Amino acid sequence: MFPNRIIRTRAGLYRLYSTLKVPHVEINGINYKTDPKITNVTDSIIKLTGRSLHLKESHPVGILRDLIEKKLNSVDNTFKIFNNFKPVVTTMENFDSLGFPKDHPGRSKSDTYYINETHLLRTHTSAHELECFEKIRNDADNIKSGFLISADVYRRDEIDKTHYPVFHQMEGATIWRRTKANEGAKEPTYIEKIREDIRQVEDQLNKENVKITVDDDTIPLKEYNPKQEYMSDLEVDLCSQHLKRSVELIVSEVFNKKISSMVKNKANNTPKELKVRWINAYFPWTAPSWEIEVWWQGEWLELCGCGLIRQDVLLRAGYKPSETIGWAFGLGLDRIAMLLFEIPDIRLLWSSDERFSKQFSKGLITSFKPYSKHPGSFRDVAFWLPKDKLDVHQVHENDLMEIIRNIAGDLVESVKLVDSFTHPKTGRKSMCYRINYQSMDRNLTNAEVNALQDMVCSKLVKDYSVELR
Ligand code: PHE
Repeated sequence: MFPNRIIRTRAGLYRLYSTLKVPHVEINGINYKTDPKITNVTDSIIKLTGRSLHLKESHPVGILRDLIEKKLNSVDNTFKIFNNFKPVVTTMENFDSLGFPKDHPGRSKSDTYYINETHLLRTHTSAHELECFEKIRNDADNIKSGFLISADVYRRDEIDKTHYPVFHQMEGATIWRRTKANEGAKEPTYIEKIREDIRQVEDQLNKENVKITVDDDTIPLKEYNPKQEYMSDLEVDLCSQHLKRSVELIVSEVFNKKISSMVKNKANNTPKELKVRWINAYFPWTAPSWEIEVWWQGEWLELCGCGLIRQDVLLRAGYKPSETIGWAFGLGLDRIAMLLFEIPDIRLLWSSDERFSKQFSKGLITSFKPYSKHPGSFRDVAFWLPKDKLDVHQVHENDLMEIIRNIAGDLVESVKLVDSFTHPKTGRKSMCYRINYQSMDRNLTNAEVNALQDMVCSKLVKDYSVELR
């Protein structure tokens, strides 16, 4: 049907796609076939896939990434760094390789941007764990090795000052290879090595100005957060200590930097202590698993999930049974960056306005100075759900968020449900959402806001057959 020569090359294949008018999207220069039943990635999201804020040296996210990498590698330089993974991954990489069950809610279309049945925008940096474990597998000379991955990750979510459909994570992992004891030694070499590794991280922690206070009642392990069979109690204990001290070192470094700059600027809310707590958690690819929270400006902030890597993951990456033990963590960067640099709205991180970008420089934690707050403009959208869709989940809140984002992009500050009720006689359900239109960079005119609001309303009617009130 088509001359063979067109489809011999990749470029030819893409041309073929467009000739055939097979619906497709292009992301980072590669064409992917779309599927009307599955695809929910939108143009406004695709536009963000090339931004790589974590690679920008003078951007808050990039500065923070660099700070953490340097600190972790200052201990003994074992972390190999992978910061250039592209955001499109397979369902295999994002979920199956990590042991997510087929019905895990994380896979749902309401939370994840799918390109087609097999490809999606990664929802976490753990999607690259398997590949990185493979990459470091043959560093066979070392008892210990590790990696750090930083990347943009994508989740369908609500719209407000702290949520954005794209954010950044750093994944870290360390493994030790089980080795025999040297002649005359009490313990195998790798156990001695882990003990020494813990001491080294503790030394670093002790150097910090404000010492971190740790509250941890997750030990002894609970039956719902058990250890893996193949590890001994001693290994679990040492591996967990090394993991927890390493994560505490990140928190300590970052928040101490902030405290010093607050002291220098004589800020009146400068904290006198730094408190963290460990809580039990669950992730399909680690056991046991935990989360760490930090006490900051009057509240506990969740920072990072982590745990001891399940052996299944290592086996899938080609390691031999019982050969290796290790840990992994995943840290969200944007929220920490907002707090360090005192950035009040997450959309600012994506702003190309020089009044924002010119404020930051490599290696420095400085406080953002607002250049002007442009007034917001509220509009309500109230509607009856169609009769046959009384269950709200059929029009998932995230679908509404997506419609609004796609039309108004970064001109929306927040969307809040302000009212919902079911009519006592007809049983029909009504919802009302309040949209705050506000630009970071300029004043919006009434006409402009009305036009956006009209588009949102018509799209809602068209896609979800709601009846506007
Ligand atoms: N990927 C997890 C998340 O996004 C965090 C995590 C990473 C947990 C590595 C355990 C190990 O929440």
